[in-house]
Amino acid sequence: MRIIPDFISETEEKQLHEEIEPYMSRLRYEFDHWDDAIHGFRETERKKWYPTNRDVLERVRQVAFEGAIMPYVHVLDLAADGVIKPHVDSTRYCGNTISGISLLSDSVMRLVRADAEKYQQSSTGTTSKENDVDADANDAAYRHQPEAKLENNFYADLLLPRRSLYIMSHTARYNFTHEILANERSLFLGKPIKKTRRISIICRNDP
Ligand code: OGA
Ligand code: MN
Repeated sequence: MRIIPDFISETEEKQLHEEIEPYMSRLRYEFDHWDDAIHGFRETERKKWYPTNRDVLERVRQVAFEGAIMPYVHVLDLAADGVIKPHVDSTRYCGNTISGISLLSDSVMRLVRADAEKYQQSSTGTTSKENDVDADANDAAYRHQPEAKLENNFYADLLLPRRSLYIMSHTARYNFTHEILANERSLFLGKPIKKTRRISIICRNDP
């Protein structure tokens, strides 16, 4: 897991936000489904970008991915009171690297070593019932939620500053759950990190 602070400038942040906002602001935040991995969010996928923003994404490709990234970039808008609960992105839909730019807010991402047995069950893609759910109908298929236990202290809280890029790959991506802590629990080195509305621009590669 790598975090690159100030990966984009304030101007680039503004340009990315301006491209996303007209579409995003028309969607409703979803708070309804408690079993989903994400609560209080709206999201979209985008293929075509304005040239300046395309340049930023090209930098992500160069820094985070050795080869190609998926043509669709995932844009996730998390409300101030939204939360991303512990999960591992499905190995069926997503390859060894997930890389995200954070806009508008700092936040704390927690990585917890996933229970190896449970993780294997959910990653083989054939035995678990929830894997058969259509990805469009339910994000349970896209995001597995193995139990994230803190007892063994095998976890790390990471500060994702506004305008940073994180690169989560290999062990961090497969063997740890990731989550974004709710504002009430958002602490880094004992200091409260105020999470306001946060937009992440996430690139992934193919499985
Ligand atoms: C996800 C996810 C992290 C982020 O969409 O699966 O974990 O940075 N997003 O928003
Ligand atoms: Mn995820």
